[in-house]
Amino acid sequence: MKLEMKNLSKKYASYHALKEVDLSLKPGLYGLLGANGAGKSTLFKLICGLIRADAGSIKFDGKDTAKNLDEFLSNVGYLPQDFTYYPEFTGLKFMRYMAALKGVSERKAEPLCVKLLELVGLAPQMKKKIKSYSGGMKQRLGIAQALIGDPKILILDEPTVGLDPKERVRFRNLLSSFSSEKIVILSTHIVSDVEYIADEIILLKQGGVIDMGAADELTQEIEHCVWEVMVNAREVREIAAGLTICNQRSSSEGQGMILRIVNEIQPLPDARRVPATLEDLYMFYFGNEA
Ligand SMILES: Nc1ncnc2c1ncn2[C@@H]1O[C@H](COP(=O)(O)OP(=O)(O)OP(=O)(O)O)[C@@H](O)[C@H]1O
Ligand SMILES: [Mg+2]
Repeated sequence: MKLEMKNLSKKYASYHALKEVDLSLKPGLYGLLGANGAGKSTLFKLICGLIRADAGSIKFDGKDTAKNLDEFLSNVGYLPQDFTYYPEFTGLKFMRYMAALKGVSERKAEPLCVKLLELVGLAPQMKKKIKSYSGGMKQRLGIAQALIGDPKILILDEPTVGLDPKERVRFRNLLSSFSSEKIVILSTHIVSDVEYIADEIILLKQGGVIDMGAADELTQEIEHCVWEVMVNAREVREIAAGLTICNQRSSSEGQGMILRIVNEIQPLPDARRVPATLEDLYMFYFGNEA
């Protein structure tokens, strides 16, 4: 199974939202990481045929998806970024409604919907109205509807927005449970959402893929570029100007402030190297946008 994008480009009026994107995806979990406006949703909308590319192609197992979009989309589950739920529906009713839209017969719909709601841990609340659900429960309902029809490709646009830490963990575990046989692509600007579960991370910046690889491969790239240094708290602003600061925290002793800096060369005489994390890499690429 393979989903391939070649030279994919999209303009909105004169604004180039996606620029010559080449990606080749096989089963596994991909984290699409990028700042606001990087083009994440645009890429997803192109894959789902909601908008048309200005150039390039998307192929699924060698077949151009635009040539037979309906057939392709029968393989795709999608959770849009701005997904709307019907507050007066119960979780189960909403799932049955989505199943009907996806052409699941009425006889099969009920057991299928209950099974998916169980999978995402919503079975106990399935007869409650969606307006009583928490953010995390709604997101899990969003995943459940995306799983109707057992899609080979699962596209989740910022599914972790609004989740509390416990819900995030639960969500990550859920995703990793089915990513071995599906192509799962999840967008986020929160590094920790994908750091430990994504097989590969795709970094999207201003419409272009600037880097892609396993988390440890990516952090290797900046292995010698992460530094910590203690400075006087009063001098932080002056010192920080022009540097990419990943983090700053008060030192346990006295007036000091410990700065974490990504920089290709030693930024200050007393700076010492520390191991790089994916968050440092994110700051390396996006620091001046964040
Ligand atoms: N329909 C549209 N018309 C004009 N410009 C658009 C349209 N949709 C998106 N854009 C612009 O294209 C760029 C990419 O948008 P996109 O929604 O793909 O980014 P994103 O990475 O999903 O951002 P976010 O993290 O905020 O969801 C942005 O600069 C956005 O303003
Ligand atoms: Mg978006």
